[in-house]
Amino acid sequence: MKGLILSGGKGTRLYPLTYTKAKQLIPVANKPVLVRVIEAIRDAGITEIGIVTGDTEPEIREAIGRGGRWGVEVTYIPQPQPLGLAHAVKISADFLGDDKFVMFLGDNVIEGGISPLIEEFAHSDWNSQIVLTRIENPQQYGVVELNDKGDIIRLVEKPKEPPSDLALVGIYMFDNHIMRAVNEIAPSARGELEITDAIQWLVTNGYKVRPYIHRGWWIDTGRPDDMLEANDYALEELEHVVDGYVDRDSSVDKRVTIEKGAEVINSVVRGPSIIGRGSRIINSYVGPFTSIYHNVTIENSEIEHSMVLENSVVRDIQGRIQDSLIGRNAVVESSPTKPKTHKLTLGDYSSIGIL
Ligand code: G1P
Repeated sequence: MKGLILSGGKGTRLYPLTYTKAKQLIPVANKPVLVRVIEAIRDAGITEIGIVTGDTEPEIREAIGRGGRWGVEVTYIPQPQPLGLAHAVKISADFLGDDKFVMFLGDNVIEGGISPLIEEFAHSDWNSQIVLTRIENPQQYGVVELNDKGDIIRLVEKPKEPPSDLALVGIYMFDNHIMRAVNEIAPSARGELEITDAIQWLVTNGYKVRPYIHRGWWIDTGRPDDMLEANDYALEELEHVVDGYVDRDSSVDKRVTIEKGAEVINSVVRGPSIIGRGSRIINSYVGPFTSIYHNVTIENSEIEHSMVLENSVVRDIQGRIQDSLIGRNAVVESSPTKPKTHKLTLGDYSSIGIL
């Protein structure tokens, strides 16, 4: 079996973070979402992975390379325009050959433990297996209607009146019949070749599509709040270890990870949280559900339920920073000069909450 990861898109809902960084490379619990996906595929015993990329291909290549670090071999498949998930399958025909494959959306974060499901498909005679979950806003997703026996009646993409609350999460398994399906369907109203329509084609033509209902958490990380929520879950899942330095004046909970080369000095860190390599926490409080990525300085400040990406600085802040997503190379500090005002240099599409 092979793996196919879709990692295109511009990530507009995560501006400004994604002006300079592919959304799939934003870390949750200090691990880029795309790396989580690669590891999930590898854990199912798959080593050949194709990554379909768009405009952000150079950064993705730079971060992932040929995949050796994760014990996989990566092939890059450029998609010149974002013409849909089924289009991505179409242009991956050479890479996929006649093999069965699992397709993951590179920006979805799902509870660990999905790998046995992929192995199960590898040994089954199903033509496809789709992963569904019950959600409150099915209008925004592909939706599947099942009969009393649990078989698929139909699939619809982003229906105004959803026939059920079962959404397609971004994980699909196929055998080579999907190639016919993606060639038979026509573009949807949004001008894309929808994978949902291709799966409907399989069902209509009598192929075996097995629905699996996932009962754990799943997050489509479109917006900053989704990122923070994915981060919360991922931090709870982590097996925490302290590999960095914690001085005697600091207090660090059990559910805290301190990566190698990180330092905690005269500070309190409450879990679940993670402090990345090269980061320094000095005279500060880091509260639960916080991920501090690499080479960050937090000094004389309090921060909780937040994410701070690499090389950023938070210094001398009065009052606690909470529910925040701070990008790379950002500086948040108090300004001692008068007048006592808020001084901001914010990127386009930034959002900031001031009391
Ligand atoms: C895509 C699929 C949709 C699926 C969703 C999961 O939507 O078309 O069926 O439910 O991913 O994240 P899109 O992200 O293209 O809006």
